[in-house]
Amino acid sequence: MQTALETPAPEKKVEQTEAGNYFVSNYPPFSFWKPDQVPVVEEVLKQPAPANIPLGVYFHIPFCRKRCHFCYFKVYTDKNAQEVKAYIDAGMREMERFTSQPYLKGRKAHFVYFGGGTPSYLSVPQLKDLTNRMKDMIPWDEAEEVAFEAEPGTLNEVKLTGIRDIGVTRLSLGVENFDDHILETNGRAHRSGEIEKAYRFARTLGFEHINIDLIAGMMNETWENWKDTVRKAIALQPDAVTIYQMEVPYNTTMYQQMKAEGKVTAPVAVANFPRLPNHRRRPLRARVHPQAQARPQRVRLLHQQVR
Ligand SMILES: C[S@@+](CC[C@H](N)C(=O)[O-])C[C@H]1O[C@@H](n2cnc3c(N)ncnc32)[C@H](O)[C@@H]1O
Ligand code: SF4
Repeated sequence: MQTALETPAPEKKVEQTEAGNYFVSNYPPFSFWKPDQVPVVEEVLKQPAPANIPLGVYFHIPFCRKRCHFCYFKVYTDKNAQEVKAYIDAGMREMERFTSQPYLKGRKAHFVYFGGGTPSYLSVPQLKDLTNRMKDMIPWDEAEEVAFEAEPGTLNEVKLTGIRDIGVTRLSLGVENFDDHILETNGRAHRSGEIEKAYRFARTLGFEHINIDLIAGMMNETWENWKDTVRKAIALQPDAVTIYQMEVPYNTTMYQQMKAEGKVTAPVAVANFPRLPNHRRRPLRARVHPQAQARPQRVRLLHQQVR
């Protein structure tokens, strides 16, 4: 007979984060976009507008105050007001070209999504200029939702009032973590004090829906910090919390550093959190929001041990 003491301890399995991109950021992925498919798109644009198919509009703002060490998005941190204007003008020319086609002409938006980068990097006059021009081409007065991504450190009462006044109904705050040391070592431009301030102003101004983004597995995160982060997020009482699992794609500064040091495992927190007694795995969150129709890749499910 074997006693409990003689039973070999089960090998502890710790999942390490390796570099690479396991995230389909758009569908179909850009690698499948080929020039010889352009005529197919042109053909669709020539067709009459379909009945009963809601229209979603996504506008990308590729500017940020600072590049986070883990970020894989196409972003610029060195553009001046003139260059920002040139980008907006180019985007409006592109929109004009598409909205003059039969498939889109005269249609109204059902969903609008401003993503980035950091849409809240733009000044209030820049936002007004952009959105007035967009509304002339695709009105969104009947939109079910107008969503807008914001980095907390770019927000103050004036900026938030401007964002509300252009018609944003869903504000999404890139909080990521509430610990200043973790925010700093991961290259975030904001600190915890700015999160609280931005959130309170946004609530006072009456945004219909406020989402908070968190990242599980940031560099230097511990189980205690993660629990504290989740508790603080819940205490703010947002309408939704989106939890991303940390990824380290090849185009991040974090990966460049790993490569320079000859490492294969990313320096991020690993999923060896305490187990539930019955080892059941439950989804930590599964919040699917209508914005998913404008930007489906943004809503993901993180399987995690929860107490
Ligand atoms: C475009 S950013 C949101 C707006 C703004 N740029 C910001 O960061 O505050 C969208 C979200 O992507 C997530 N994200 C970015 N890089 C990530 C990575 N390497 N792994 C997991 N999530 C990531 C973050 O939660 C971030 O809030
Ligand atoms: S995570 Fe957000 S703020 Fe950071 S570089 Fe990426 S887009 Fe910019």
